[in-house]
Amino acid sequence: MQEVFLTRRERFSGAHKLYVSHWSKEQNEEMFGKCANANFHGHNYELFVTVAGQPDPVTGFVINATDLKSIIHEYVIDHLDHANLNLDIDWFQNDLQPTTENLIIAIWDRLEAHLKGCRLHKLRLVETENISVEYFGPTHS
Ligand code: NI
Repeated sequence: MQEVFLTRRERFSGAHKLYVSHWSKEQNEEMFGKCANANFHGHNYELFVTVAGQPDPVTGFVINATDLKSIIHEYVIDHLDHANLNLDIDWFQNDLQPTTENLIIAIWDRLEAHLKGCRLHKLRLVETENISVEYFGPTHS
C-alpha cells in the first residue's frame, strides 16, 4: 500500500472570548489574558487539513484538491469566517471555551464524515505565529 498525505491550507478570521462564567473578572483575566476581553477580540486562523490515501490509478489524486476545498468551506470555513465563535455558532455550548484546542476538535468532528475515498489524518490550527495545535482525531483506548 502506498499511502500519501495531502495537505490543504485554508484561512479564516474569527472573534472569541475565553471566560469561565463562575470565575471573577480578575480570575478570568489572569488565566486568559487578552482572550478574556469583555468585548471579544479576533484571530486570523490558518487551518491545515491533511488527508491520507492512495493515489487513484486514473487521476493520480488522493482527493481532488478542489473538492477538498469545497468540503472544508461548506462544513467549516463558511461557519467560522468572520463569525463570533461564542455567539454566532452553536459549537461551544455549556461553557465550553472556544480555545484553539476545542476548535480543532470541533472542526474534526464536522469534517471527518464528509471525506470520501480518503481519510482525515491530521488537522493543524494556527492561532498566532507562536501558537498552534494539532489533532489526529479521537483516540480509542
Ligand atoms: Ni484570543
